[in-house]
Amino acid sequence: MMNDFVFQNRTKIYFGKDQLTHLGEEAAAFGKKVLLVYGGGSIKRIGLYDKVVDVLTKAGLTVSELGGVEPNPRHTTVNKGVKICREEGIDVILAVGGGSTIDASKVMAATVAAPTDDCWDLVIKKVESPRALPLMTVLTIAATGSEMNAGAVISNVDTKDKLPYFSPAVQPAVSFLDPTNTFSVPAYQTASGSVDIMAHVFDMVYFSRQPRMDMLYRVQDEVLKTIVTFAPIALKEPDNYEARANLMWASTWALNGFLAGGVSQMTSCHRMEHELSAVYDITHGHGLAILIPRWLKYVMNDDNAWQIKRLGTNVFGIDASLSDREGAEKAIEALSDFFFKTLGLDSRLSDLGIDDKHFRDMAENACKQLGGTLHGFIDLTPDDIVKIYEMCL
Ligand code: NZQ
Ligand code: ZN
Repeated sequence: MMNDFVFQNRTKIYFGKDQLTHLGEEAAAFGKKVLLVYGGGSIKRIGLYDKVVDVLTKAGLTVSELGGVEPNPRHTTVNKGVKICREEGIDVILAVGGGSTIDASKVMAATVAAPTDDCWDLVIKKVESPRALPLMTVLTIAATGSEMNAGAVISNVDTKDKLPYFSPAVQPAVSFLDPTNTFSVPAYQTASGSVDIMAHVFDMVYFSRQPRMDMLYRVQDEVLKTIVTFAPIALKEPDNYEARANLMWASTWALNGFLAGGVSQMTSCHRMEHELSAVYDITHGHGLAILIPRWLKYVMNDDNAWQIKRLGTNVFGIDASLSDREGAEKAIEALSDFFFKTLGLDSRLSDLGIDDKHFRDMAENACKQLGGTLHGFIDLTPDDIVKIYEMCL
């Protein structure tokens, strides 16, 4: 049965290269005091920091700041922001950066409205927060979709956990998507972000056991084709506006809820990857690139081979007359070539210095929150997950 569903998305998007002028009026609608949150400094190198501060101050706003949000953002950094928000009476948080900066800002926004100083209490659901400070974003990398969704992922390096947080209250009110802000994204992050976009399509719905919802599958094919077409162009020509714009808008729509309508969300590879980035602090999209082709090989069977073959025929142009099994195998080959040859990502966990030492713990942890089994294309037990990790070595 197709699930009933509600689709609502309240994020207002300003898309394009001359939209930042609207930042002042949008921020002023929430109050006078802004906390500007950013990462390791890329926004300063591209001149975006100065532009943002200029627009905000011209609109009469007072700007406080928290820089240094890490990729795989840490709960301790979020807590620093919570303290600033409380001490300075911040009215609105402005995240300028990628998924890590936006995710940290989301959980910060919710914690400020909760009876705790420690955001981890919210992440592990010890404390609930139905409210949050308003959040705006200026996106600088096409990858997560965090700019238009209500999810976040936070790392705790003490417990080696990386866990999701979800609350409609933290959905950004306004997001600015200017493709020129992504011209400076390095090739490695462009490649990893592109994989992440594809993984959101795969992991949420494309490879699911749900009945066919053709309208969605057709759009999903187009999102995947967009990445296959434009990621290689962005790698060769980092300041190609059309390529960056296509990647940016695809990233937003891959995970803003629209593509999941009526189909249960599946997160097998994402859960397995979050364990990798929790323990080894690796780049999320790269971990996914290594996992997905192995996971597909592991889960392929006579019932689902046609769905994997569909990726090959619809996205990579492989011969539709092949049998489902042959087509599925060719599809996995084409996907691996795209990740590891075209995008140039290393193909093995051992390339990232990872061995099998923690596989058992990671596999148990990946299943823990879901009653011992990881649901997905087929259900996976910790034993299955260890085997998939081993295939990635
Ligand atoms: O920190 P700075 O100096 O800004 O550098 C960043 C960082 O090193 C750099 N970068 C970003 N924009 C740039 C740039 N460098 C040059 N020029 C620019 N314009 O790229 C590096 C990675 O940034 P990050 O924010 O970590 O990337 P991404 O957007 O891929 O976010 C990854 C995080 O989001 C989580 C991931 O698990 C990971 O923690 N996810 C969040 C999701 C969500 N909220 O819906 C869903 C995803 O599945 C994902 O799990
Ligand atoms: Zn992802």
